[in-house]
Amino acid sequence: MSQREQWGSRVGFILAAVGSAIGLGNIWRFPYMAYENGGGAFLIPYIFAMLTAGIPFMILEFGLGHKFRGSAPKTFAAINPKWEWLGWMQVFVAAVIAVYYVAVIGWSISYTGFAVTQAWGDAPKDFFFGQYLGLSSSPFDMGGMQTTVLLSVVLAWAITWVCLVSGVRAGIERAGKVLMPTLFILLLVMIARVVTLDGAMNGLNWLFKPDFSALTNYKVWVAAYGQIFFTLSIGFAIMIAYSSYLPKKADINNNACMTVFINCGFSMSAGVMIFAVLGYMAAQQGVGVKEVVSSGVGLAFITLPTAINLMPMPALFGTLFFLALTTAGISSHISIVEACISAFMDKLGWERKRAASILCGGGLVISLVFCTGAGLYILDIVDHFINNFGIMGAAVIEIFFITWLCNLEVVREHVNRYSEFYVGAVWSACLRYLTVPMLVFLLISNFVGDLKVLYGGYSLSSIISYGWVVFAGTVVLGVFLQTRRSAPDFVSTLKNPL
Ligand code: PHE
Ligand code: NA
Repeated sequence: MSQREQWGSRVGFILAAVGSAIGLGNIWRFPYMAYENGGGAFLIPYIFAMLTAGIPFMILEFGLGHKFRGSAPKTFAAINPKWEWLGWMQVFVAAVIAVYYVAVIGWSISYTGFAVTQAWGDAPKDFFFGQYLGLSSSPFDMGGMQTTVLLSVVLAWAITWVCLVSGVRAGIERAGKVLMPTLFILLLVMIARVVTLDGAMNGLNWLFKPDFSALTNYKVWVAAYGQIFFTLSIGFAIMIAYSSYLPKKADINNNACMTVFINCGFSMSAGVMIFAVLGYMAAQQGVGVKEVVSSGVGLAFITLPTAINLMPMPALFGTLFFLALTTAGISSHISIVEACISAFMDKLGWERKRAASILCGGGLVISLVFCTGAGLYILDIVDHFINNFGIMGAAVIEIFFITWLCNLEVVREHVNRYSEFYVGAVWSACLRYLTVPMLVFLLISNFVGDLKVLYGGYSLSSIISYGWVVFAGTVVLGVFLQTRRSAPDFVSTLKNPL
């Protein structure tokens, strides 16, 4: 039996966990969510969700991975063999995210190159949808393979693969130690650059101008809770896998809090940077900030390039921005693929090299779908369903299982053992009585919303095949893997573990 790999240092672990948490979502989702949901007032539900769900759940996941020293399937199987499927469901949710997230990293890589000469020209929107993505007419009309997208996606997979075959310490940890400081410096330089631009303060005003009436709207609270799980990478096998490599005497509670605070601090700083740019753009075009905000893909690949065109020294800011996006994306991608690799290593007894190569190779093949003319549509649908049902569903089942059906006291003692500060009844209560009902409510309201209106105006058949079928697939595959034979090390020898 070979020894499980281990992080080389505490800083190394935290940077890796932070690398997972800080991703594309912090840069293009948070600012827009805050803007949409009451501006400055959004911070109240957001911080509430962070304190009552984010931190407690992060502590729980770190504690589980650390206690059972296994990937998500191994951890849940050790707690109760009947629950192995939940770990696999999370792994497959992660796998689905891995194959489309990498496409966006690919775009960032391409755009880092484009930024040098503003290759997107005077009409960034036409460039992005037309020349670059070759967007087709519908999700079933694949059109041709886009060569530039394809090459960038291959490069992104190659970087992830190199880091992952090298192992926890020599690969993942080292990548975090290079990528995270680079990202922080990039963001600081960008902030310093943009806050002095004309109109920047006006943009910040828009972001932080509180609209307290938003607090009475339940949708704002739902948005805050929804954002917190995705942004912290909790509930889909990642943090359990990462904490399974912690040394015995690790300060779980403190590590969890640091990871959460650094992620949320980064989100706010990214919000400042983005809205300063939007404020400048609005001033240059003589319109209101409201006129220029957009979300997600549109924000990063259309609005920002448009703003960059208006800036002094556009190549400099453009390169910094897309380099930052790439850096944030790669470190998250590494974590999500590692969640899958560690599961297959545990279950089937595969070597790391083999697991990394098979999964990255297979992932690349599936990612090709996102390099076609229909890529953006499919990505949009898959992302919506995996976020709203996959992540939320797997997270609520996990929290419910552990806090209602298992002995949470054992976890509590475990996480407190080497920690500087202790968690107690408030921690359990937040998970049990606040987070579980909140997530159930959120799932139901998302579900009802999706039944009422077809997401994004797509056809029913595309919603079913790329949305519901993909989501259902994570559960079906999860159950299937539970029935497969396991490597000897996979089976827990603990008696009554929780
Ligand atoms: N936490 C990431 C983010 O905010 C989400 C994520 C992590 C997505 C890992 C995919 C992989 O972007
Ligand atoms: Na994040």
